[in-house]
Amino acid sequence: MRVLSGIQPTGPFHWGNYFGAIRQYIDLQDQAAEAYYFIANLHALTTVRDRNLLRQYTLDGAIDLLALGLDPEKAVLFVQSDVPEVSELCWLLLTGTPMGLLERCVSYKDKLAKGLKADAGLFTYPVLQAADILAYDADVVPVGEDQVQHIEVCRDIAGSFNHHFGETFVLPKAKILDHSARVPGTDGEKMSKSYGNTLAVFDDVKAQRKQIMRITTDSRPMDQPKAPEGDVLFDLYKLVASESQVAEMAALYRRGGFGYGEVKKSLADAAEAFFAAARQRRADWSRRPDDVRDVLQSGAAKARAKAAATLARAQAACGVKGY
Ligand code: ADP
Ligand code: TRP
Repeated sequence: MRVLSGIQPTGPFHWGNYFGAIRQYIDLQDQAAEAYYFIANLHALTTVRDRNLLRQYTLDGAIDLLALGLDPEKAVLFVQSDVPEVSELCWLLLTGTPMGLLERCVSYKDKLAKGLKADAGLFTYPVLQAADILAYDADVVPVGEDQVQHIEVCRDIAGSFNHHFGETFVLPKAKILDHSARVPGTDGEKMSKSYGNTLAVFDDVKAQRKQIMRITTDSRPMDQPKAPEGDVLFDLYKLVASESQVAEMAALYRRGGFGYGEVKKSLADAAEAFFAAARQRRADWSRRPDDVRDVLQSGAAKARAKAAATLARAQAACGVKGY
């Protein structure tokens, strides 16, 4: 099994990104024969238009992944733009991609529906993602449900290239990450950068505590019991507390006679403990940014070797090499 996944550096990673995606694909580094993980900065360029921010989010994203357990001995970690072969492959794939296929993609459709102007980068976003996947002959792509359509587009594009020019690409499969890991935000809606309801994985401990204390709750009287499931505080607590702590908290909800203040305090304590080791590793890596760049450079070298071989195969297949 060759696993590949990417994440856009569009801001600090939040609990939704971690529990919904990052944690699950980092876990796969132990099962896969080969694992490739990258920071999708070319994709992020469709939304982040400030060069300093993009640079910062890119390096921070890599530091976060290392701190959260990505092991460069087990997985190849790199930055998307350090493998130019992928952009070249993207062009080969763009030719022959039907407009209608891309017009049906939700990220583009949503933007148009909101009355916003989309650029050609956003329109062709799924083709660059297809190039990302095909360049490394990935067969398993762990992604959240929101990305499944892009993997289907990738399979369509690869399938029709193979059909037209002969077997060139491996058709990948999406590995849909656990849907129950849909993380609620501080307002009870799905946690998302675009809703401004996120808890950052690596926020300052005190700031995060304050943010947790401000989470909106209902006006249930203190003496009344409450079903734990579906309550924002409880659902967040489940992610960071131990099994026995969760069982105790569930019992407290069912019994009643508690205030949300104490639940929030327990949530903040559990979150602090849960991320403590990662926070420590993050502090260590942050002090050595050049070591992080070295990891990324050696990851990119491995990734390039693989991508160059695939690109050469595709170039030969469609006749832009060997004239
Ligand atoms: P955002 O919605 O904050 O812009 P992204 O779309 O960049 O987040 O998320 C990257 C990945 O993280 C997604 O593909 C998805 O799998 C996962 N993810 C994001 N938010 C959540 C959430 N609230 N619950 C579960 N997974 C999430
Ligand atoms: N589009 C993905 C997201 O927003 C990120 C991404 C870019 C990706 N290229 C990829 C994911 C290739 C998997 C495979 O989450």
